[in-house]
Amino acid sequence: MELRVIDLALYLEISDKFSGDPLNLEEQLDLQLKSLCSEVSRTLSDTGALLVKDPRCSAEDNDRFIDMMEKYFEQPEEFKRLQERPHLHYQVGVTPEGVEVPRSLVDEEMQEKLRAMPKEFQPSTPTGPDPKWRYMWRVGPRPSNTHFQELNSEPVIPKGFPEWKDTMDTWGYKMISAIEAVAEMAAIGFGLPKDAFTSLMKQGPHLLAPTGSDLRRYGQEGTVFAGYHSDLNFLTIHGRSRFPGLNIWLRNGQKVEVKVPIGCLLIQTGKQIEWLTAGDCIAGMHEVVVTNRTLDAVKLALQQNRSLWRVSSTLFAHIASDAVLKPLGHFAESPLASNYPPICAGEFVEQELAVINLKGNKGEL
Ligand SMILES: [Fe+2]
Repeated sequence: MELRVIDLALYLEISDKFSGDPLNLEEQLDLQLKSLCSEVSRTLSDTGALLVKDPRCSAEDNDRFIDMMEKYFEQPEEFKRLQERPHLHYQVGVTPEGVEVPRSLVDEEMQEKLRAMPKEFQPSTPTGPDPKWRYMWRVGPRPSNTHFQELNSEPVIPKGFPEWKDTMDTWGYKMISAIEAVAEMAAIGFGLPKDAFTSLMKQGPHLLAPTGSDLRRYGQEGTVFAGYHSDLNFLTIHGRSRFPGLNIWLRNGQKVEVKVPIGCLLIQTGKQIEWLTAGDCIAGMHEVVVTNRTLDAVKLALQQNRSLWRVSSTLFAHIASDAVLKPLGHFAESPLASNYPPICAGEFVEQELAVINLKGNKGEL
């Protein structure tokens, strides 16, 4: 299944001109733009994923970021371990393979649901923790006064990478800008004020968290790099990976292999948007598995003498820790609203992290 690509250019061109008042939106938005916003919200609800093209985020930006991350993950393990901060619960620096545990491995309720799924839509079964590395880099300002103070840890910069900070920050800010545009469009599409989501994202604990999976070592078809799970944040965004392998589940339970066209970005719904919409949008389930298409890309990379590390340029966008997660606007009237009682986003994150083995007492992922 091909997911349609939404071009953000038209929205970005005129978005500054209209206010956040939903009553005036009718007059302010032309029909074309309004239907585009509805398509964004509908796609997020139906599929939990959205492909976008943002004129501010080029394929070259994505390449520059992935090139640097490939070079980093190619380093020997002893080098990468210097950037490991287990005492800070991996909130910054590198998380080695074998630390992140997919929820499907530890959640019995989820395992039961999986067994009830039709065979062809069942996810791959992980046999242990994910064999992927990850690097955590905070992006954007944090509040000075908060009930959820992050651990006071300096960002970790590996030696020999003078371009590190600039490359991480540039890509991180670009990804946040793309998410903000999508969040505004989704809010309009859902019939909420334009800034309904973005106002809650201000000073959120956004994290650029690229993963690295070694296809030279773990390149057998069926290897699970990220076991079936959904993300606990608001929206997740990735640039195009050089190696396919991501499967998503639509709301109707259908499993779909995602093909991200060159120059496009993939957005996925997390649990925080599910909370804010009382389940109108549900957190998208997904997994990353070595498939025959991954192996085709491996063959090509070998021929072209390129890296066999599969890098995902993931950014987790969060609702601010002190903001309250609760169904917004008309979603508060939804019959499902009582399933989503008010909770501070920071507290919600702590609860979720406890399940997946990354018990940062003030953590985020
Ligand atoms: Fe994920």
